[in-house]
Amino acid sequence: MKVYLDNNATTMVDPEVTQAMIPYFSEMYGNPNSLHKFGTASHPAITKAINQMYKAIGANDKDDIVFTSCATESNNWVLQSVWIDKILNGDKNHIVTTEIEHPSVLSTCKFLEEQGVKVTYLPVNDQGIVEAHTVKAFITEKTALVSIMWANNETGMIFPIQEIGEICRDKGVLFHTDGVQAVGKIPVNMQEVHVDFMSMSAHKFHGPKGIGALYIKNSQKLTPLLHGGDQMGGRRSGTLNVPYIVGMGQALELATTNIEEKMATIRAKRDRLEDALLGSLSDVFTVGDRNNRTPNTILISIRGVEGEGMLWDLNNSLIGASTGSACASEDLEANSVMLAIGADNELAHTGIRLSLSRFTTDEEIDYVIERFQSAVKRLRAISSSYAIVQPTAGGAAGECHIHH
Ligand SMILES: Cc1ncc(COP(=O)(O)O)c(C=O)c1O
Repeated sequence: MKVYLDNNATTMVDPEVTQAMIPYFSEMYGNPNSLHKFGTASHPAITKAINQMYKAIGANDKDDIVFTSCATESNNWVLQSVWIDKILNGDKNHIVTTEIEHPSVLSTCKFLEEQGVKVTYLPVNDQGIVEAHTVKAFITEKTALVSIMWANNETGMIFPIQEIGEICRDKGVLFHTDGVQAVGKIPVNMQEVHVDFMSMSAHKFHGPKGIGALYIKNSQKLTPLLHGGDQMGGRRSGTLNVPYIVGMGQALELATTNIEEKMATIRAKRDRLEDALLGSLSDVFTVGDRNNRTPNTILISIRGVEGEGMLWDLNNSLIGASTGSACASEDLEANSVMLAIGADNELAHTGIRLSLSRFTTDEEIDYVIERFQSAVKRLRAISSSYAIVQPTAGGAAGECHIHH
């Protein structure tokens, strides 16, 4: 058996999505900007995809949804354009974000700091989130933008986006959320939150890689990052990637149809896996209250077992997991999100992320439970730093209560 539990890194393209895309590679390959029939043939499909996106996130026709090449581009676009619009050409100088954003936000903020922008990186609490009152405390008259993710890629923890949005609205500050790990996984309705900009990525919800989008509330002004042929109403130039646009729309419709049911099914499997691991192994911890996590995610620490060793052992059993975000997991550094929530250095080297999808089966979960348990025993037996601790009644295992 082989089991893919790295769905927060990327997902399998749903076969129905592939089917919807294929005609736009082979038959309807025209440039949608061309005036002949080869070009215009794809217009209905683009309109359909845009409508699918609007419906899935509860956007209305005053809002804008612009396709990009990925969420990294969407995040860069918002941060760099707000810098141009509100800081270089305005009287603001400050951005508020968190310590545990995805590198596409954090590295862009570092770049903006080099240009003279002040950036506040809010610390997270022991649940791995930033509370709304913390955000409020750091907004000043000079703040141009608050950029806070909806759900974290490593822990799955969900941030209080509604409250943060209200604070930003009341303070007159723009609010961007990186919605990559929320959209398609939990209900996201732009009518219920005050969000100015939201980044999305198709490959996190069983769509193709290399296509993202940016939601823009009330179609407000945002200086383009890519200048050129004025596609997407001049907001984002570049020939439209029709097959991928079709794929993104289709994938989001599939992911969000009956989303509560889909969530319940994934959650049941995730909880069974988590309970089995916590119940059978000593000195293991999961991060964050699972009722406030995306239903597919577990970040688990196993004292005495290096994350990389565990990944290697699981990989030998053809189980794909991760020690953190895929972009950062080639180095052997401690998990930065675990450090941010107050884990000690040793524990932060042991974080393993298991992320399920709607395609994960019960048989796969059974297999992972068995292989995970035997991997921990094997690796602890050869660990020089870990003296086997006998499980005690009520055990050391449980939800992570890592304190600073
Ligand atoms: C929270 C978050 N933001 C942004 C990204 C970047 O998305 P993309 O691969 O579309 O650039 C990812 C993907 O790893 C992510 O998890």
